[in-house]
Parts: sequence; structure tokens; C-alpha cells
Amino acid sequence: MDHLIKPHGGELINLIVDNEKAKELKKESKTWVSWDLTPRQLFDLELLMNGGFSPLTGFMKKKEYENVCSSMLLADGNTVWPIPIVLDVPEEIVKQVKVGDRIALRDPEGVMLAVQHVEEIWEPDKLEEAEQVYGTTSKDHPGVKHLLEITNRFYIGGKVEGIQLPDHFDFKTLRMTPYELRFNFAKLGWRKVIAFQTRNPMHRAHYELTLKAIREVEANLLIHPVVGLTKPGDVDYYTRVRCYQALLRHYPENTAMLSLLPLAMRMAGPREALFHAIIRKNYGCTHLIVGRDHAGPGVDSKGNPFYGPYDAQELFKKYEDKIGVKMVPFRMMVYVEDLDKYMPVDEVPEGKRTLSISGTELRQRLAEGRSIPEWFTFKDIADELRRTHPPRDKQGFTVFFTGLPSSGKSTLAKALMSTLLERGGRPVTLLDGDLVRKHLSSELGFSKEHRDINIRRIGFVASEITKNGGIAICAPIAPYDRVRKEVREMISPVGGFILVHVATPLEVCEERDRKGLYAKAREGIIKEFTGISDPYEVPTDADLSIDTTDISPEEGVQQIILHLEKHGYIGGE
Ligand code: PPS
Repeated sequence: MDHLIKPHGGELINLIVDNEKAKELKKESKTWVSWDLTPRQLFDLELLMNGGFSPLTGFMKKKEYENVCSSMLLADGNTVWPIPIVLDVPEEIVKQVKVGDRIALRDPEGVMLAVQHVEEIWEPDKLEEAEQVYGTTSKDHPGVKHLLEITNRFYIGGKVEGIQLPDHFDFKTLRMTPYELRFNFAKLGWRKVIAFQTRNPMHRAHYELTLKAIREVEANLLIHPVVGLTKPGDVDYYTRVRCYQALLRHYPENTAMLSLLPLAMRMAGPREALFHAIIRKNYGCTHLIVGRDHAGPGVDSKGNPFYGPYDAQELFKKYEDKIGVKMVPFRMMVYVEDLDKYMPVDEVPEGKRTLSISGTELRQRLAEGRSIPEWFTFKDIADELRRTHPPRDKQGFTVFFTGLPSSGKSTLAKALMSTLLERGGRPVTLLDGDLVRKHLSSELGFSKEHRDINIRRIGFVASEITKNGGIAICAPIAPYDRVRKEVREMISPVGGFILVHVATPLEVCEERDRKGLYAKAREGIIKEFTGISDPYEVPTDADLSIDTTDISPEEGVQQIILHLEKHGYIGGE
């Protein structure tokens, strides 16, 4: 493998200890504190252990972390490294350990993956980290949001000894480690290898771009998609990987290879481009394609981008010699209709008509079952996307009623269920407030804490039903805005979510008092009764608002049916 590019720092790191040592460490670990790794830490640990993060041999210590944040250099003051790799833990853990201890790092099932030597513990200044690494402290940036809201308060730095890599049960043969990829490159005689980083399905534009790159550089291509954490809302990686597999068949024989990278992206734009290059260098690649807005986090709440479209290319250019990976820069590729071919946007002859389809437009076309042209994506990829993105009228959805007791939620929910069952098609499940309290939440009361637990349970069940293509109708009081929003966030990525506020005024509900509970609440016999002695937060994000004072259940249901039809959830069956 000597002819391949040297790993970053000169040597490929492998932190996995031999079997004997692993047994010994496991035995000793009985008395140690355990830490269950967060999703991001699991991916970071995997790349530390398999050498993807060479020359790192553990989670960063304070000086190294500070160097990386401020000047993109490791503790030696010379090796370029743009992103902090830290083990963040909460105060409970910090209270239980001291410098010199060892911690058992475990996966979510409790399997011990590695040993963390506690060499340093400190509390970082996260705002400063955000400013230095991401160039902003705005939580609109997903990397910053993660840092400020999810990352734990303290960092522990020190050497790691690996016991085993995390288990993956999918696409096993595609998950090559740096050593395995290097071995394959050597076997095939690949010397110059261009890496293509992606977190999205690849379409014709990407295909043309990569083909152009390998022809210009006279190199081979590694399609190296990230299958760790990407940007919230991205296409799931199972679908993506099947798309990459389909795309691979379109390249000329023996030019391209596909391998999956277990990286947790930070969406740090320019710094992330360098990070991607260093990792690919460790995997044996000599070049990295850097396109427009590489690893970009999108725009802030005012619609402004965090980085310029070619900032990543500019930063890369500055560091190219130092890291030893060459950049293959690309402008955006567009389809020129008259010439029936793809070209970089700045090379399109004047007056020629170009076509493009944005990610949003593609999602809409998939949702509405509209055509996807072949100039945009190969047919086998479009078919693959269609399989996992059925049009809306084949997807699951949740109708979530919220409102005061006796507002008419249950009646509307029951009537809606009958109407949907009459139409046929998808299975319908009713999660009425009273029913749920009997079966799913029988031990809960009506404190805020218990109500929130109740709503989260309903949300969880509804999201499972929705994910699997069914219709869930929920009808709890759900008086609190935050947990209602949580449920929306839980369900929206897997199907439709329609919040219906049953906005019947309190006087009418109390007048109806279907179960005699308002009367008891007024007497103080029932405590914490919504609307009387407990709050109801009126939703400001309802998709529909129905006051049942003067309308029949049939009329109410009709409003919902019209809404569902308008948004494509029903009607196409
Ligand atoms: S919550 O807040 O969403 O968890 O409430 P939910 O599970 O929907 O409530 C179900 C029914 O419980 C009856 N009930 C009460 N409601 C509100 N506050 C108090 N303290 C209370 N005690 C009992 C009430 O009848 C709810 O049903 P609906 O159909 O809304 O009247």
C-alpha cells in the first residue's frame, strides 16, 4: 500500500486493542463509571478507532481543543485540524470521575465499545466555540443548535482504547474502514482517487460532475456518502444507499467504487470541507470534489446564508498544500436544454436555456406523484425514490384534535374515523383521550408533567402508525403548546400531521358538560380541571380551527375532509 497517499499525520491509527487486552479491560471495567455514548459520539468514536480521524488517538484535551477552535491546528501547532472532536458529558458523570480514572464507553444497548482515559475535565465556553468553528452563535445553524442545546456541559479529554467497532447490520460490505479501502485501492492499482462527499441522493448533475472530474484528473472515483448524522430532514440513508448502488452501474467499468462513511456532519461549511478532505486522505483518497456551498447549513431565519457559496473552495485553496489533498473545485452544474447536456453554470453559452429542479421541487413532485424527467435523474433512481416517497395519498398521516373538555373532539374524531373507513384504503386508528387514559396511560394523573407524558405517548404511537402508512386520529385535550409542537416534530418527518383546534368556547363546553365534570370542577371536587382550574394554551399553529357551537359533526368532518383533499392526503385512491 506504500504507493498510496500517506494518512494525515503520517500513520494510520488503529485504536482497537487485541483480544487478550480487550478481555482484560472488560474485566477491569466492572468498577468503572459507564457512559452511554450519544449518537454523535458513537460516530466520532468509530472514526477515532478505525483511523478515519488519524492522527487523533482519543478525544481532544483542552489545549488541543482550543488550538483547533482558534487556529485549526492540533496540539503540535503544526497539523491542520478544523473541527473539535470532544467527549461531552453532563455534570452527573463529572461528579463521579477524576483525572486518572477510566470510563467504559458504551453503545445504547450497553455494549462496551471503548475505554476513555480521563486525562482532563473542563467546562468549555460554547458560545466562543460556536463563533470560532461555525462563525456564528445563531441557533438557526444546525451545528450551533446541536452545540448549544444538545451537547453536554463538560468535556473529558484523553486517550481511547478500542474494544470493538459499533455494530452495523445494514450494508455491511459497503462499510469499509480506512484500512480496507486502502487495501482495495492497492489491489486494484488505484493511485489517484477522487472522493465525492454527499448527504443527498445523486442525480444526473452529480453523475456528470464526477465523470468530468475523473476524466480531467485521470483518476478513479470513490463515492463516499455520509451515513452518520446529516442535516435534519435529509432523505434517509437506506434510500440514498440504494440510489447510489443504482448510480454506480452507470459509470464506466472499474472507474468508481462506493463506500459508506459513518461521520456525524457538523454542517460547518468551509471548515467542514477541510475536515472532509482530511478524513478522505485517511481513507486513501488524493482528491476531494468541492462544489457550491459545500456542507452548507442552509439559511438563517431571515433567509441569509451563513457562508458564501464558494467560501469552502477559497479556504480549501489556502490549506491545499498543507493537508496534501487536492481540491477538484466545481461550479454548479446545470442542464442546457438546447445542447442536451450538463455544463458548469459559468460555461453556458449566452442565450441558451438551462433547466434545474430544486430539492424542494423534487420533494413536491414525489409527494404529488408527478413525473421526474430523465434529464434530471436516471430512471432507476427515480423509481427508488418513488418506492420510499409515495405520493401523499399513499402516505400515512395523523389528525390531532386538541381542545377543552366537552368541546366536541371525541365526536368529531369518531365521525372522521367512520368517514375515512367508509372511503376505504388505509387502516385507521382512533386514539381518543378517554380510551388512551384507560389503556395506555392508566397510571397517569392530570399534573402538567403527567399530561405531557400522556401526549408524548400518544404522539409516539401515532408516529409509528403514520410511519407505516396508516391514519391515526388523536383526540386528547393536549393543553400545552410545547408538547403539541414536539408531537408535530415527531410525526412530520414520517408523514402528514394536521393539528385541528376544536375551538368551542368555554361557556359552551361548560354548558354541555357531557360528563358532569365541569360541575364537579366548579365545586372543587375535581382539581386541575382544564379550563376551570388548569390552563389551556390556544394553539397558534393549528392547520384548522373548528368551533362546534353551531355546526353538526358532519359539517365539522367535511371541513377536515376538504383540508385533507386540498393537501393531497386523500382523493387519489
Ligand atoms: S390531557 O391533558 O390531554 O392529558 O387530557 P386527556 O387525557 O385528553 O383527558 C381525558 C379525559 O379526562 C377527563 N378528565 C379531565 N380532563 C381535564 N382535567 C382534569 N383534571 C380531568 N380529570 C378527568 C376529561 O373528561 C377528558 O376527556 P374530554 O373528552 O376532553 O372531556
